Parts: sequence; C-alpha cells; structure tokens
Amino acid sequence: MNYRHGYHAGNFADLLKHTALCELLRLLTAKDKKLFVLDTHAGAGGYDLAGSQARRTGEAGAGIVRLAAASRSGMPAAVARYLAAVAAYDRKFGPSDGGLRRYPGSPRLVRAALRPGDRFVVCELHPEEALALKREFAGDRAVEVRQADGYKVLKALLPPVERRGLVLIDPPFEATDEYERLLRALRQAIRRFATGCYAVWYPIKDDNAAVFARELAGFKPLALEMALHGIEPGKLAACALAVINPPWRFEEAMREALPWIAAQLGPGVRATVSAPPASAPARASGA
Ligand SMILES: C[S@@+](CC[C@H](N)C(=O)[O-])C[C@H]1O[C@@H](n2cnc3c(N)ncnc32)[C@H](O)[C@@H]1O
Repeated sequence: MNYRHGYHAGNFADLLKHTALCELLRLLTAKDKKLFVLDTHAGAGGYDLAGSQARRTGEAGAGIVRLAAASRSGMPAAVARYLAAVAAYDRKFGPSDGGLRRYPGSPRLVRAALRPGDRFVVCELHPEEALALKREFAGDRAVEVRQADGYKVLKALLPPVERRGLVLIDPPFEATDEYERLLRALRQAIRRFATGCYAVWYPIKDDNAAVFARELAGFKPLALEMALHGIEPGKLAACALAVINPPWRFEEAMREALPWIAAQLGPGVRATVSAPPASAPARASGA
C-alpha cells in the first residue's frame, strides 16, 4: 500500500467527489430522520496544502486553490457550500493571510454535516493514515474510526439500524483486484441494503476501468465525470463518481455545479452528468 492521499488532496478528483459528497449530505440530512454514514476508504482526514506531499505534485494548486480563488459571481449554490465547508475546516487552524493551508478529506466533510444522533464510521487500512485519522477525531464521540478493511466493515455494518444511509467507497485502485473486490462488496451491500445511497469513485484510465464502469452501470447510477486536458501520460486525467440511489434534486445540483467547476479549472476541462435510462430499474443483484 503506497498510496497517500496527501499527494492528491484538493485535486480535480477531490473537487468532483467532495462537491457531490457535500450535496448528498445536505440533501440526506434535510429529512428529520437519523442517518448512518460509512466512509470505507477514509484517508488521513485532513491535509496540509503547504506540506511536502502537496507541494511535490502541485495538484491542489490546479484544483482547490484555483476554485477557491474563483469569482463568486454566478457560482452555483452547491459549489459555494462546498467551498464554505473547506474554508470552515481551514479556519480551525487559526487566521490565515488569505490562502488555503489545510484541506478537509471526506471524513471531515461528513463530520461537518452530521446532526446529533447521526452515526458515522470511518475505515482506513494504512497504519500511518489510520493513526492520523484517529488523531484527527480524538475525543470526538460522533466518529468511530476503525483501522480496518473497508470492504469487510461494509459487509458487517449493513443494513444499518437507521435504515437510511450513505456509503462512500473511494479506494486507491492500486491493487490489481480492486475492481473485482469493489464490485463484489457493492453487490453484497446492495443485497443487504437496497435503499442505501452509495457513492463510488473510480479513475477513468484503462480498459479495466471501462469494464468496471460497464459493470457498475448495472446498478443504474447517476454518473458524474470530470476530465482534464493535456495531462502528461501516466497521470490521472479523468475520473468518475457513480451515485446509486441519489436523493431527489441531487442530479439537478450536479448539472449546475460540475460544468461550472470545470470551467474554472481551465480550457478543455469538462464535466458530464449522465442519468440512467428512465425505463430501466436498478438490478439489486448487480451487473
Ligand atoms: C483515495 S484515498 C481516500 C480519500 C478520502 N476518501 C477523501 O476523499 O478524502 C484511499 C485510502 O484508502 C486506503 N485503503 C486502501 N485499501 C483499503 C481498504 N481495503 N480498506 C480501507 N482503507 C483502504 C488507503 O490507504 C488510502 O488512504
């Protein structure tokens, strides 16, 4: 396990995934019923944008730093809310001279949206990242941090007693069997908890990813995609978030937010939102 999210925190993939995550949380917490959230691949929780990892790739500079500097005029509400969540996390580290210093990972964004009584479990397998995550939430009884395999925890915790849930599955895709493991885990999860909302991130990079996307399509997700332009070979140029059972109004918000974000990131960057055909019901048993 070599992957460290610190090299990529705040890049275009995070903008896509985290804007969607914030909007999913907002819509799912609008109802006066308890929510269960599971982050199967959580990372360290928060990231230092001035640290050596972020500086080495510069990905945050071309991502969140550029977006945070964009004019607020015409900014879609979902983007404004996401940026407000990022800024609120950054402010925890004291007053800044204007630039962003810290970026919240998915666990921090989820935590900020939870209400008293909601339940949140985060999993991270890498010992150092898990330790950072435990430190990030030390003393916070609303967050249960597990150093564990997220797929196993997914199997163990579904269906949640709350009967309402959001599951984020965001693996590093380093292992050659990641696609198969993810699909297997997702099929089992949906069999146990068919009404849950699942957000699955994946890179769009090779034939395996294309096969994976076709398999995922069997779950009839709303597919959110973002692609960069003129990226050097070997670097991530495109990615997607597949959202199964999205809440009402989510699609509308993403159709507004994602192309706007893409336009801020530079010429040639594109974002698409694709809904499944209306006539085809989702297959709970998967593809
Ligand atoms: C892309 S990062 C997560 C980023 C995070 N979700 C966010 O949005 O801020 C993927 C993380 O999954 C961890 N990981 C890899 N395999 C895992 C597994 N089977 N279970 C839990 N965590 C795993 C990696 O160590 C890495 O920190």
